[in-house]
Amino acid sequence: MAKIIEEVSRTFSEYLLIPRLTGTKHQSKNISLRAPVARFKKGEESSLFINIPFVTASMQSVSGSDMAVALARQGGLAFIFCSQSIEAQAAMVDKVKLHKAGFVQSDSNLRPDNTLQDVLDIRKKTGHSTMPVTNDGSKNDLFVGILTDKDFWEFEDDLNRPVSEFMTAKENVFFAEAGISLHEANQLLRKHKKECLPILDSDGRLQALVFKRDYYDHMNNPAELLDSHKRLVVGAGINTHDYKERVPALVEAGVDVLCLDASDGYSEFQKEAALWIRERYPNVVIGGGNVVHTDAFRYLVEEAQVDFVKVGIGGGSICITREQKGIGRGQASALMAVAEERDRYYEETGTYIPLCSDGGLSNDTQIIIALAMGADFVMMGRYFAMTNESPTPRVSIGGRIYKPYWGEGSNRAKNWQRYNQGASETGFKFEEGIDGYVPVVGSVKEVLDVTISKIKATMCNMGSLTVKEFADNALLTRISEQSFIEGGTSNVLSLDKDAPREV
Ligand code: IMP
Repeated sequence: MAKIIEEVSRTFSEYLLIPRLTGTKHQSKNISLRAPVARFKKGEESSLFINIPFVTASMQSVSGSDMAVALARQGGLAFIFCSQSIEAQAAMVDKVKLHKAGFVQSDSNLRPDNTLQDVLDIRKKTGHSTMPVTNDGSKNDLFVGILTDKDFWEFEDDLNRPVSEFMTAKENVFFAEAGISLHEANQLLRKHKKECLPILDSDGRLQALVFKRDYYDHMNNPAELLDSHKRLVVGAGINTHDYKERVPALVEAGVDVLCLDASDGYSEFQKEAALWIRERYPNVVIGGGNVVHTDAFRYLVEEAQVDFVKVGIGGGSICITREQKGIGRGQASALMAVAEERDRYYEETGTYIPLCSDGGLSNDTQIIIALAMGADFVMMGRYFAMTNESPTPRVSIGGRIYKPYWGEGSNRAKNWQRYNQGASETGFKFEEGIDGYVPVVGSVKEVLDVTISKIKATMCNMGSLTVKEFADNALLTRISEQSFIEGGTSNVLSLDKDAPREV
């Protein structure tokens, strides 16, 4: 006989927070949004924290290496999508790990015989205006010179002329020898009033470039998420089919966190995969999921021994899992049920399991409620798909700028297997995700700045200085349909919605 959970499935927008006493210390500048990612024992620290409680969904239309770099620079973590070949995913991880340390491996390199037109083509693709010139045009060959967009006039010079005629040749370039520290390199840039410092090995081969701009970026992004070697931290999604080949390649590339990516994670497949990884790579953090119920949480934590658990089935903005398969649970109910079980587990065993609320966060208020309900951090797809750094092209529709956004369960995403592994029989019979567009809203930094300001303002209202304290202090009320309407504007002509537009 089927059992029915009496409590109705509820969503975040059905709740409001009731303010608690705000003390004089409760000011934005004193608030920490740091969140643990790996399980830890009472009295100990998690082996991995993120500095802001945001991670990206492991999706083709969200999480490439540019996104991973942009988010880690703000203190969050991206999960590079796994619906691509193992080599391609490992290369993305590699790119993120190489990005930092201030020593940049250039991806815009020239040969002396390249033309100025080649330079413009590369600039259009990469956006870089400083390009090293090496003997064979690769990033680590013999250094010959450097070209910046100050060295030629695009509309005056003959674009068929070779780079060698315009570049600053090596004998006139100020460079440093490999082995120098980042601090020393920055001091040299400052002393010699340079924008870029090439680093060469003893044979004169290019090792890296150090930019003044990166130093400024670093100083402007104090929350940057770095590993012990000062490289950006990066995650990757994995599946339960090819993990024995995929995980070694990702670990080799330097991945810090792996997350089993499945709409329903309550499976022996996840247990087998997680235990296999745990045995071979004890230092890599592993996430499991998704789950919406207590028994599934216990299974992943006790049997599969994952580090963190992702909560949410069917709430994603592009998700049609609930209507296609009839599985899922309102995200607020799912999160509260699992968070309660997590706290019970902590009481019983002294081990804390971080929770990630995944999917269906369609505005900043919902993110706030998710954190209040016990999520340590949130995973978002649509939110990041709308930013400049998502890996999709901008398109103009009806005079507004959009980017494509599609679910990992859509045929568009699943099509990659056709070319790599052969599509599974069931893989293409029905879709679990849709294929659409979202408006472009700005850079990752710009949107996060607003969201973070709101979260911190609410935490002040709630008398909390940390995310954990916020959840512990949270007092929530359910709202009726009428109070929902009351919460909007009423009987006022809204300039946003109603005012006639000037023409
Ligand atoms: P969003 O932040 O509401 O856009 O939801 C993103 C989340 O939706 C992801 O992290 C996944 O958990 C989930 N998701 C991604 N692709 C699909 C799909 O095709 N069907 C169902 N859920 C999906």
